[in-house]
Amino acid sequence: MEVKLRRARVEDATKIRDLHVAAIRKTCAPDYTPEQILAWSANRNVDRYRWAMEEGGETMFVAVCQNKIVGFSSCYDDEICSVYVHPNFKARGIGAMLLQAVEDEVQGAGWDEAHLNATLTAQNFYIKYGWQNTGGLKSEERNGVAIPCIGMTKRFV
Ligand SMILES: CC(C)(COP(=O)(O)OP(=O)(O)OC[C@H]1O[C@@H](n2cnc3c(N)ncnc32)[C@H](O)[C@@H]1OP(=O)(O)O)[C@@H](O)C(=O)NCCC(=O)NCCS
Repeated sequence: MEVKLRRARVEDATKIRDLHVAAIRKTCAPDYTPEQILAWSANRNVDRYRWAMEEGGETMFVAVCQNKIVGFSSCYDDEICSVYVHPNFKARGIGAMLLQAVEDEVQGAGWDEAHLNATLTAQNFYIKYGWQNTGGLKSEERNGVAIPCIGMTKRFV
């Protein structure tokens, strides 16, 4: 099963949105309440993903397997904004590839360290790749509901 990464294109936005929602609803569900999962995944407008790529300045990568988008990651300046793998394609090394791509992008832009807000689901994934819990437990608000996450940092030098 060959998986390749490429830069995301605007026409990928609907597939990225669908994958994002599926990963939240399935992979993250054990770590959050049903109310949190619903609020977090609801009202995800495709335009938001297009805007992020075209105007928001996010660099976005997709993982492609047999012409299907199976994961995506994105970054902006020194912040990793997302790393998501479709639930049916977990545990095949795709998340690691996507994380490496955005770390390389941040480091290549000259930043000494990168930051992210990890889901409770992915915290140990990031720790495996050298990230540290530096920000403690925080929350991001989605549709009026607080979604707990963990502030993490990775130093490159
Ligand atoms: C977290 C996520 C991106 C990992 O993607 P994945 O493709 O399943 O991960 P990989 O197969 O590349 O795993 C690489 C390594 O990390 C480990 N790993 C993966 N997810 C892990 C987790 N949640 N906790 C601890 N270790 C994890 C794997 O066991 C593997 O280790 P190994 O090489 O020793 O076997 C994916 O599960 C996901 O999309 N989760 C839901 C969305 C999410 O929370 N994203 C983070 C947003 S901040």
